[in-house]
Amino acid sequence: MVTHIPTIQTTNIANEYNPFIPPQLDNPYPIYARARKEAPVFYSPMLNLWIVTRYDDVSHILKDPTHFYSAHNFDPASPLPSSVLEVVRKVYPNIFNLVVSDPPKHERLRGLLTQAFNLEKELRPRQQSRNWEIAHELVDTFVQDGRADLVQQFTLLLPSMMMSVMTGLPHEGIKTVLQTCDNIAKLLWEQNPLEKQLEYAHSIVALQEYLTAQFEERRTEPRHDILTDLIAARLHGEKPLEIPEAVNLITTMLFAIYENIPKGLSNTLMLLLRHPEYLQAIRENPTLADNAIEEAIRVEPSVQGLIRTTRQAVEVGGVTIPAESRLQIMLGSANHDESHFPDPDRFDIYRDSQQKHLAFGTGIHRCVGIPLTHALGRISIQVLLERLPNLRLQPDTVFEFEPNLIFRVLKRLPVEWDVPAVVS
Ligand code: HEM
Repeated sequence: MVTHIPTIQTTNIANEYNPFIPPQLDNPYPIYARARKEAPVFYSPMLNLWIVTRYDDVSHILKDPTHFYSAHNFDPASPLPSSVLEVVRKVYPNIFNLVVSDPPKHERLRGLLTQAFNLEKELRPRQQSRNWEIAHELVDTFVQDGRADLVQQFTLLLPSMMMSVMTGLPHEGIKTVLQTCDNIAKLLWEQNPLEKQLEYAHSIVALQEYLTAQFEERRTEPRHDILTDLIAARLHGEKPLEIPEAVNLITTMLFAIYENIPKGLSNTLMLLLRHPEYLQAIRENPTLADNAIEEAIRVEPSVQGLIRTTRQAVEVGGVTIPAESRLQIMLGSANHDESHFPDPDRFDIYRDSQQKHLAFGTGIHRCVGIPLTHALGRISIQVLLERLPNLRLQPDTVFEFEPNLIFRVLKRLPVEWDVPAVVS
């Protein structure tokens, strides 16, 4: 864990910056806009992080893993007590091995994952048709109610249901994986009593033992699933994955899906519901859905900021940052940078500059889940529009977000519709 605390002059923006409380929690984009003008790179004493806000600096840093490395990206927010560390020592090192690895190790892991998670193969017809069924099954549970919370009743439930087909793990196994993903996040980033921390740590060890057994089974009896493909993957001149590496890679993947799909999809649906004219346009021309998803992810990125650490003292945007400092690279700000996106705060599904947004990162760690995100987004939008006539926000809806350093998390998305007549 890097604990360097610089003694530097802080700007007003630095002292005002607090993403955890309103008004910045409700709408962080005005303070980013001020920062881009007044202090594009500043040190936040509250977070002990250097905040980088301009598109060009963000893009430059993400493309330079030599000077800005990833190994500390998932460090705990505060040191873990020794009894918890005792348990955690049994965990395979680097739970999120792909995202926290730097070159040259990263290239091997990414190559093996991409080979196994070949998206053409993964989105093969069986998975695709199951995804459509899952979206319909979720809507079946509330279609006759005339109202629902799309976060609790739809977007949060979608990933666990589709992961079962993808991984070949039984539904109960997936539930354990997802519960443990929550526990990992709580252990790393939340303040909890010691007994809770111990419970979380034990659950991570149990998950790894469970996944190890699943991989071992597939070594002797291969199946048609991503776990089998992961341990079978081979790169020229490289060692195949050891089981602990495979366990951590699949945990990284499942964590990425579980964390990102509900948040990305909720934010996308929120923006579309606030613009009924776009919903109508997509109803009439479903091919617009992909552009709409991309633009929504630009405007309300579910990952607001990524962490990087400086290897040595380095200048960014005219500011010298000391060695071993942690930076937060604000994707949410880069995507609203007026020098790259005209009228940047406007949600415009016909915009043609949206493709260069940075919500999926850039450089060697650029997201591997973009096609899956689009596929699930298209399916969800189409099924919701088809099954819920005149879908709209409930009157007086107020949008509230969870206080979270990394993610933009919508709490609820209350909608209503004209209940369709039951065909007997
Ligand atoms: C709205 C949806 C999503 C968003 C906004 C998103 C965003 C991101 C971002 C910003 C990164 C870069 C991380 C970094 O540079 O440190 C990333 C990496 C990654 N994403 Fe996604 N993601 C999404 C969906 C998914 C899905 C569905 C999957 C799985 C299929 C996935 C798997 C990954 C993986 C494995 C990485 C690490 C790649 C590497 O380190 O080489 N993501 N994602």
